[in-house]
Amino acid sequence: MDTNVVLIGMMGSGKTTIGRLLAEKTGMEFIDLDELVERRAGMTIAEIFQGHGEEHFRDLESQVLEEIASSRHAVIATGGGIVKRAENRQLLRDLGLVVWLDAPAEVLAERIGEDPDRPLLSRSQPLKKLTQLLHERRDLYAETSHIHLDTTEHTPEEIAARILEELHERYKDEEEDVFATIVAIDGPVASGKSSLAKKVAKRLGFMHIDTGAMYRCVAFEAMRRGIPLDDQDALAELAHSLDIRYVEQPDDMPGRVLLNGEDVTEAIRAPEVSRNTSPVADIPNVRAELVRLQRQMALRGRCVLDGRDIGTVVVPEAHWKFYVVASLEERIRRRLVQHQQEGHAVDVERLRMDIIERDRRDRIRTHGALRLAPTATILDTTGISLEEAVEIVAALVGGSVGAPS
Ligand code: DC
Repeated sequence: MDTNVVLIGMMGSGKTTIGRLLAEKTGMEFIDLDELVERRAGMTIAEIFQGHGEEHFRDLESQVLEEIASSRHAVIATGGGIVKRAENRQLLRDLGLVVWLDAPAEVLAERIGEDPDRPLLSRSQPLKKLTQLLHERRDLYAETSHIHLDTTEHTPEEIAARILEELHERYKDEEEDVFATIVAIDGPVASGKSSLAKKVAKRLGFMHIDTGAMYRCVAFEAMRRGIPLDDQDALAELAHSLDIRYVEQPDDMPGRVLLNGEDVTEAIRAPEVSRNTSPVADIPNVRAELVRLQRQMALRGRCVLDGRDIGTVVVPEAHWKFYVVASLEERIRRRLVQHQQEGHAVDVERLRMDIIERDRRDRIRTHGALRLAPTATILDTTGISLEEAVEIVAALVGGSVGAPS
């Protein structure tokens, strides 16, 4: 089951509380759209409304909604007015099961009480304003949702349990052994695992999770903020605070990596960032945080992850584990071509030393070192093309899970 649950409804309807409960019960990721908007803007919602007006807030909200469009297995709590835009209503329905949490205006007013951070509520007559907003939005909530639940007489626990029942009922036929749909691809620097993972994922219609990009994001942000690369506590804290997302693109276009909403896909590939990522990836608490996130993403199923420790640490239960290798000369050649295509100037000897050094660090780190998982298949890509490697992996996995190949 790789659907999301989207909670819509007025302020005071319990979207956040119920969303968190549901995520806890199911292990799904919890996404609070308002919180993401605040992080992007660096301001509270009340400040956005006061400083820039409602339309600006709606633009940010729509932008964040587009960014999370490739989420799977998440519980998403939305802002009350998100349904005002037709394109948002469509995006919400595309995300998964949309649940409208409803309650009469009197109940909402009582739950909200005196909250100064609700920019759309007039302080003098909140009930009147809530009644008017509910009146304006009822049809839009109804049009957007698959399920309508009145929360008046129920506790958040009861509502969460009810949504869970509904989920199982609707998706029971789709439940499958999640580990049979997880492909783990590990291997040394520039062995071709990322390109392979990307193409295999496209072929199978799976999500590609480039775990190296997450370590790169931490190093990149640390460099920008001037955090020393030996300050382990600060780096672990940074890893914990970053919002890293993959946004899939249609056809053969490469996916994008968003760091706190900013597209850093190319920036994190710069040679300087590669060099600084290795020491960052050595830090046990940075790894613990990123491994936790990677595992959470992996357990949504139907994904291809590439890295160093996927088959040994992140998802040792994955049915499909590949260990990709290639000769040093071949790996230098591939990285050279890649850097040139990306417009980064490189010196071949420096590249050789970088690869050797990063290989060494990958193999000796105390946590998450590069190791061959006992049940992994070794794939030597030295003499074969990327397309041939993709064929081998996609035929094995696709033949088994019945994905298009
Ligand atoms: O695969 P890559 O070159 O983008 O990885 C960047 C760095 O992150 C590299 O130094 C190894 C490290 N890494 C890791 O330690 N564990 C992973 N699962 C993925 C990458």
